[in-house]
Amino acid sequence: MKLCIDDANVEQIRRILEYYPVDGVSTNPSILAKTGRPPYEVLREIRSLIGPEGELFVQVLSPKAEGMVKEAKKITAELGRTTLIKIPCVPEGFKAMKQLKKEGIRFIGTAVYTAMQGILAAKCGAEYVAPYVNRIDNMGYDGVQVARDIHDAITANGLDSGLLAASFKNSQQVLELVRYGVKAVTVSPDVFDGFVKNAAIDAAVRQFTEDFEGLAGEGKTMADC
Ligand code: G3P
Repeated sequence: MKLCIDDANVEQIRRILEYYPVDGVSTNPSILAKTGRPPYEVLREIRSLIGPEGELFVQVLSPKAEGMVKEAKKITAELGRTTLIKIPCVPEGFKAMKQLKKEGIRFIGTAVYTAMQGILAAKCGAEYVAPYVNRIDNMGYDGVQVARDIHDAITANGLDSGLLAASFKNSQQVLELVRYGVKAVTVSPDVFDGFVKNAAIDAAVRQFTEDFEGLAGEGKTMADC
C-alpha cells in the first residue's frame, strides 16, 4: 500500500514527511488555489521535498482532450516523469487518457464518483483511479463500497491499475480500504494527525516515562543507564 499526502501546503507536507512513511503528494486545482501561490512554484517545492522518485499528482484543467494532453506534457516537462497527470473521468478525459497512454505519459483517473468511471479509466491505462470516498458518502451513497467495487473489477479483469483512494474525512474510511488491500490512499494532514490522536495513547506513553523516571531518575532514558 502506498500512502500519499493530499495537500499542497509546503509546511504541512514537510511536517508529515518528517514523521510518517510517505510515498508521494497529490494535489488538485482547489488544493493549489488554497496556497494562494503560483502553481509551478509550489509544485517545484513539493518535488524537491519528495525527491525525484516521489510520486507527485497534478491535475489538468482543460475541457477538451487536446488541451489536457498539452497540459500533461507541460506538467511532466516541468516536474519530471514521476509526476502523474490527474485526468477527470469524463468523456474528453477518457479521450485524453488514450492519447497519453500512446505517448507513454503516466496518468490517473480522477473525480471518480461511480464505479464505471473508475473501470473505464483503468481500461484506458490509468495507473491509478481516484474514487472520492467522503464526497460519495456525503451524497448518500457508500464511498468505501464504490472504491471496493472498482478495486474488485480491476482485479477480476486483470487490468494493470489500482486505487489511489481519496477524499477521506476520518481514519475509519482509510482503514476500511487499507485492509482491503488497495494500491494507494491519499490523506490530508489533519486525517494523518487523526491516525494517532487519542488521549489513551498519550496517557500510556506519559505513564511509561513517569514509571521509568521513578526507577532511574528524572529525564533518564535507556541511553543513560
Ligand atoms: O483530490 C481529490 C480529493 O482528495 C478531494 O478531497 O477533501 O476535497 O473531498 P476533498
